[in-house]
Amino acid sequence: MQWADKLSMIQPFYVMEVLAQVKALEGQGRDIVRFMVGEPEFATPQPVLNAGIQALEQDQTRYTDARGLASLRKQIAQWYDRQYGVSVPIHRIIVTPGTSGAFILAFGILLNPGDSVAITDPGYPCYPNIIRMLGGEPYLIPVGPESEYQLDAQLLKPAIEKGIRGVLITSPSNPTGTLIAPKVLKEVIELVGHSKGMVISDEIYHGITYGEQAQTALSFSDNVIVINGFSKFFAMTGWRLGWMIVPDEAVKAVEALAQNLFISAPTISQHAAQSVFGCQDQLLDQVAAYDRNRQVMIARLRNMGFIIAVEPRGAFYIYADATHVLKKTGLDDAQQLCTVILNDVGVAITPGLDFGQYRSNVHVRFSYAVGPERVEEGLMRLERFIQK
Ligand SMILES: Cc1ncc(COP(=O)(O)O)c(C=O)c1O
Repeated sequence: MQWADKLSMIQPFYVMEVLAQVKALEGQGRDIVRFMVGEPEFATPQPVLNAGIQALEQDQTRYTDARGLASLRKQIAQWYDRQYGVSVPIHRIIVTPGTSGAFILAFGILLNPGDSVAITDPGYPCYPNIIRMLGGEPYLIPVGPESEYQLDAQLLKPAIEKGIRGVLITSPSNPTGTLIAPKVLKEVIELVGHSKGMVISDEIYHGITYGEQAQTALSFSDNVIVINGFSKFFAMTGWRLGWMIVPDEAVKAVEALAQNLFISAPTISQHAAQSVFGCQDQLLDQVAAYDRNRQVMIARLRNMGFIIAVEPRGAFYIYADATHVLKKTGLDDAQQLCTVILNDVGVAITPGLDFGQYRSNVHVRFSYAVGPERVEEGLMRLERFIQK
């Protein structure tokens, strides 16, 4: 069978291959420290589990409105009021199957064939694939420590002159953990607004920041698409629930697409998620635990020779330049380094290749969304590997 031509442009997720290798090694009885995962190790808070069980017992298992339960959307609106002092009318909030579902809707309403969306390289690997799948073109902008791995008005100018349709901001970023400065975000929103494009702000790592709060793009404009969800701060990855906040004029189009593509987001998850907003103390304790991991890892990785040019201030990732480590170990590139580290000392990390092309062959990403004892174990093994 000849599958669709566009599939040739869709890259597999390299980290999934790492995961398959990890599982194979674990199947042979090896203990692997998983520094490659992009999800919290913490259990879903108990009140959320209870609400999920209750929803099941009450047979809350039918479709909901395509936009999601009104009661959940109301809680999301209240969250914006409490967190950011931003008032969001409920009719602009759409609950989606993960933020992944929200991206399909956002690009689905924006893109005509050949339209492009500016994204960072390095960046979250699914963006270019979803854009291509929907007939658009990713416009990759290489970013480095100079702009803290974020887009800014100057970097965007050539793309704007070419007539791009959208600009995607991810702050805190995956894989770099850096935040866009509020002033820069405001400038980008103004610049893109003047060009009649749309800013899409992926705020999935909001809440996981250290010593500061990330600002929502909604603080600067209502004419943006904000995407967020329950996977990261709320530690609910497998519940597959996200949301998007869209401009007034986009609501009808998003709703029509959501009805056709998903009918609705998972009902049990929607009922369960309503209890998570009351668990803030527990969630903030998790962020404090990530922060301790972050500090230990940055210091010890730097000692080993990894270059961390900009300290991550959010999410649970460290994007490190492995140039010195490659020299020391005589290995060719980051992919080889990841394979050798996994096989030799049982630590799984993600090669930069997963996140783009720009200097990716000398970069690796560490995730520290694991317990402190695993951080310690993984670092000890890495130190042993590098001293060899
Ligand atoms: C930047 C970014 N956006 C979106 C997602 C997708 O999250 P969800 O579980 O809500 O689909 C991820 C997951 O790792 C991510 O890193």
